[in-house]
Amino acid sequence: MNRKYRKTLIAGNWKMNKTPSETKEFMTAFKGMLPKGRWCDIALCVPAVCIPAAVRVMRETRVGIGAENCNANPSGAYTGEIATNMLVDAGCKYVIIGHSERRAMGETDADVNAKVHAALNAGLIPIMCCGESLEQRELGVTNEWIAMQIKAGLTGVPEEKIRKVVIAYEPIWAIGTGKTATPEQAEEVCESIRTVIRKLYGSKNARATTILYGGSMNDKNAYELLAQPDIDGGLIGGASLVPEKFLTIIEAANQPTL
Ligand code: PGA
Repeated sequence: MNRKYRKTLIAGNWKMNKTPSETKEFMTAFKGMLPKGRWCDIALCVPAVCIPAAVRVMRETRVGIGAENCNANPSGAYTGEIATNMLVDAGCKYVIIGHSERRAMGETDADVNAKVHAALNAGLIPIMCCGESLEQRELGVTNEWIAMQIKAGLTGVPEEKIRKVVIAYEPIWAIGTGKTATPEQAEEVCESIRTVIRKLYGSKNARATTILYGGSMNDKNAYELLAQPDIDGGLIGGASLVPEKFLTIIEAANQPTL
């Protein structure tokens, strides 16, 4: 982390877990635990039907609610889809875009790029995900692959909007597997992402961009991961479903030495 130049963000990704009633229960418990004082930014990205319950409980707290996906079109005949202005109206601040689980369902880099534009135009903070497979890592093409995903995802995003984008590096082999990247592995890729941003948007913007690590980050390993200079927070799946665990990760992001 580097709090001097950029925001630290701890974001939960609930995926397809919890009902609206369970959301209310979680949020009520979590709200009661939130410490007072200065803390990092906190986001909880929840299933679409849980957004109203989450927003209601977290009103007037520093926890921003987010969605896990959006459609790039403003409105129209897209059965089952949700537009960015609907998310804003429902009280969302964030939206996860291009998660590897959605890419596995057919989402392309062009889709990701269109969704990033739609999110930014609506005033949402896109959390744009990238990550390599185990095969790509073993082939030694991780940095090239990630650079391609970042460049494709950010195509046409103007300089004045880049600081609104959060990037999440999530190695696919580490997601939900309990197999975390080592702090060194995660740092190496997050640093290379910052280099890509520097080439595209200059050093001031690169320095100000928040880059998260995700993939089996939990209450046990968060401290070490967050101690890396280019890891500005986490995108947390499993461990964000338990208020105590999620809070411990937030506390790790507040470590005094950084
Ligand atoms: P995990 O998920 O923490 O359960 O590995 C992370 C993610 O997919 O965002």
